Amino acid sequence: MSVLLKREQLRQRSDYTYKFNEKTGRHGWLRLTPAYSLKVVEELITGHRQAKRIFDPFCGTGTTVLSAAYHGHEGVTTDINPFLVWFAQAKTAHYTSNQISATQEACSSALDLIRCNSIEPASPPPIHNIERWWSPKSLNFLQFLRTAISVVTKEYSAERTLLQIAFCRTLIELSNVAFNHQSMSFKNEKQLNIDFDADMAGIFSENVRFILSGASENPIGKSYVVLGDSKNATEATKGLFDLIVTSPPYVNRMSYIRELRPYMYWLGFLVNGRDAGELDWTAIGGTWGIATSRLADWKRPTDCFESQHLSNALDQIAHLDNMNGTVLANYVAKYFDDMWSHFRCLTSVLAHGAELHYIVGNSTFYGTLVPTELLYAEMLTNLGFNKIECHPIRKRNSKKELIEFDVIAQWK
Ligand SMILES: C[S@@+](CC[C@H](N)C(=O)[O-])C[C@H]1O[C@@H](n2cnc3c(N)ncnc32)[C@H](O)[C@@H]1O
Repeated sequence: MSVLLKREQLRQRSDYTYKFNEKTGRHGWLRLTPAYSLKVVEELITGHRQAKRIFDPFCGTGTTVLSAAYHGHEGVTTDINPFLVWFAQAKTAHYTSNQISATQEACSSALDLIRCNSIEPASPPPIHNIERWWSPKSLNFLQFLRTAISVVTKEYSAERTLLQIAFCRTLIELSNVAFNHQSMSFKNEKQLNIDFDADMAGIFSENVRFILSGASENPIGKSYVVLGDSKNATEATKGLFDLIVTSPPYVNRMSYIRELRPYMYWLGFLVNGRDAGELDWTAIGGTWGIATSRLADWKRPTDCFESQHLSNALDQIAHLDNMNGTVLANYVAKYFDDMWSHFRCLTSVLAHGAELHYIVGNSTFYGTLVPTELLYAEMLTNLGFNKIECHPIRKRNSKKELIEFDVIAQWK
């Protein structure tokens, strides 16, 4: 997921990942595989002008709520990840021209402080094997930059938020990490040399400039971004919604915590690996650290989602000809049991006739197809939703059976 605030570009570039591009010899933003088309979100929102309150229970980088606010709706969104909540709040906030020029000045002051060597560097974040992530020179610069930002800005100020977002972009640009597809790998020597002489202060200034160029485009609608677990939607949200547009996690063992670790550690949203695993255990589809080891002994709850289709898929996965069958089957079962909890509590926040759009892809586990869209449709039918449809949107990659769907339903 990219950390980006330039709002007009944000519509085309939200679920993106930062990667070295062999062709251009530079780094660039590439799409994460499970990202759904932002165009779909835009179209759904512009196609529902009458919708007063729009809800996205899986905020991520805040695409839905930002699009809703641009089109003048009230948007509410929740996410389990405090970093993403902070980021989406920053993206949807209103910035005055004074705040934007103050941020520009704060950027210059921060870099002056580093140049004059008049501050102490912040402690490095507690990331395992940190030397694999940043060269000593880059790490040192980031530690000074971290302190400098906190010296030149006030806590919770717009200036600090905007500089921290530029800091997040900078830390990835200075890292030895290539974000390939859904997993991260470390750059090879050849790639490492490319950034070796980079002007670090220049990279930060450029990121600040980029962020500020989008920050003045204030959306017209109101947005509320709330930390919350979508398995308990009612806790975090108040009032009824007439439209839901969301892209929930996929059943694909991708961990958002894993992908976002560098930002979360640097900004203090995570302080150790155990917390990372705990957070991923609460997240639907999470699979990082202890979230995976716990699956081995996990038992389905008594009020689990009963479905013949799901049981068949779980049976096949559990009997896969490898050691991980049980863990994988438990992973898939837990995903659907969690989504079942989500859909059950959702009904209490929907207005009469509310429309749902869940943009989600199916998955395969060693040849066993998990028809996520059909299982969602089954859950929604069981809960009494009407007009349930699964519209294929696009193929996800060269595997012909992997398809992204818009699962549509209407509340009675
Ligand atoms: C596919 S992403 C959403 C992408 C988003 N539409 C965007 O534009 O960035 C799924 C999100 O669901 C969040 N999530 C996972 N489990 C959750 C839970 N139990 N409650 C709330 N959010 C959760 C993850 O943190 C992740 O940000």
